[in-house]
Amino acid sequence: MLLHLFFSLSVFLTLIDNGNAGITSSFIRNERPSVDIPLENDVFAVPKGYNAPQQVHITQGDYEGKAVLISWVTPDKPGPSQVRYGLSEGKYEFTVEGSFTNYTFYNYKSGYIHKCFLDGLQYDTKYYYEIGNGDSARNFWFETPPKVDPDASYKFGIIGDLGQTYNSLSTLQHYMNSGAKSVLFVGDLSYADRYKYHDVGVRWDSWGRFVEQSAAYQPWMWSAGNHEIEYMPFMGEVTMFKSYLYRYPTPYKASNSTSPLWYSIRRASAHIIVLSTYSPFVKYTPQWKWLREEWKNIDREKTPWLIVLIHVPIYNSNVAHFMEGESMRSVFEGWFIEHKVDVIFAGHVHAYERSYRVSNIHYNISSGDPYPVLDKAAPVYITVGDGGNQEGLASRFRDPQPDYSAFREASFGHSTLDIKNRTHAFYHWNRNDDGKKVKIDSFVLHNQYWGRNYQRRKFNKNRLHSVILNRASTAQL
Ligand SMILES: [Fe+2]
Repeated sequence: MLLHLFFSLSVFLTLIDNGNAGITSSFIRNERPSVDIPLENDVFAVPKGYNAPQQVHITQGDYEGKAVLISWVTPDKPGPSQVRYGLSEGKYEFTVEGSFTNYTFYNYKSGYIHKCFLDGLQYDTKYYYEIGNGDSARNFWFETPPKVDPDASYKFGIIGDLGQTYNSLSTLQHYMNSGAKSVLFVGDLSYADRYKYHDVGVRWDSWGRFVEQSAAYQPWMWSAGNHEIEYMPFMGEVTMFKSYLYRYPTPYKASNSTSPLWYSIRRASAHIIVLSTYSPFVKYTPQWKWLREEWKNIDREKTPWLIVLIHVPIYNSNVAHFMEGESMRSVFEGWFIEHKVDVIFAGHVHAYERSYRVSNIHYNISSGDPYPVLDKAAPVYITVGDGGNQEGLASRFRDPQPDYSAFREASFGHSTLDIKNRTHAFYHWNRNDDGKKVKIDSFVLHNQYWGRNYQRRKFNKNRLHSVILNRASTAQL
């Protein structure tokens, strides 16, 4: 009963929100310098003990959520690639052997990067694990997701463009208090490419130690951004995504992908597709072919929620990076609508923005109809590239606010998507507010597959008269 009342209240609030045209938040934040935290700060502390494992992070290891991929770095010598794990703390009944590798980047030589695959796990279970030996051994835990099921509830966090500033720390700490169970990361991890020479690798290491406080305990699902490209010919480094691919493995083979940069997983009641903005994606490329096949594997009877992660937003009205997502829109938008994607999360723009359900699939170079229309079969597009990196905020939005833009604010923060069942999910964007966690943009996301029939309506080109007239139906995002 209480839950029902909460749903009703949330829907009512959504009605009110969407009865207006798009909102540009008037919130004025205090500018704090967007500088990286000094290396000697405790957030980057090297764990005690000779050659102790550091930069520990986990991600989903298979397609269904019954495996975990654990990765860490040992700085001085390889040491064991072994993970000991079990169902109670300190009692490790299972042992798995992994492997290690390392790489160089100009004159930087990485530590030994270990990777260990734990499979055959039980759903919805807490596991404890230990890595390293003797005085250098370290202990962590993680929880597996519920069985893939259409009504499995599950709370995701969404973080993008995080970096390693004090704002990044604020975002991370607020996220860790959100109760979310895993992170959907929308690209641009460490911003180590803002450094040169040896310091690039050093800042990848510090970022690994920085996010360990969360990423060692719950899976972060990775996608790559432009700051992972690291094409630096002046240093002789021209292999794209080198540091990222060595350090942040993904379970791409489980979804028949041929590249760690694009893949999919199923987790609880969600099917999550990760795409790579900076890999070829036009027709006939490997990524395009993989996605064409992957649509066939999606079963909304089992995983009602269909989520796509990309780095560059498709509908975004910030001055920064405006239209950079247009090439991917022209290739993939038709599929997003045909397959009823629920929500697309992106980063790249360092400000928050949410779209209405819109599409522009009628536009082609001869139709003469280039204006996006409200489209109930289309995804909601959310930009959450506001993790807090050293480049600072993208504080200038285009004026007037385009009709497709529902809410936008230039502040740091993170989002959560709290899936309740096959039909409803609660979404929140949380502004950091310079130290305090504040919930700002919230709505009830209605599932595209299990929701109502769709109707297509055209925008009034100047204002959202159609939205106002049809506010009841538009509200049900
Ligand atoms: Fe970016």
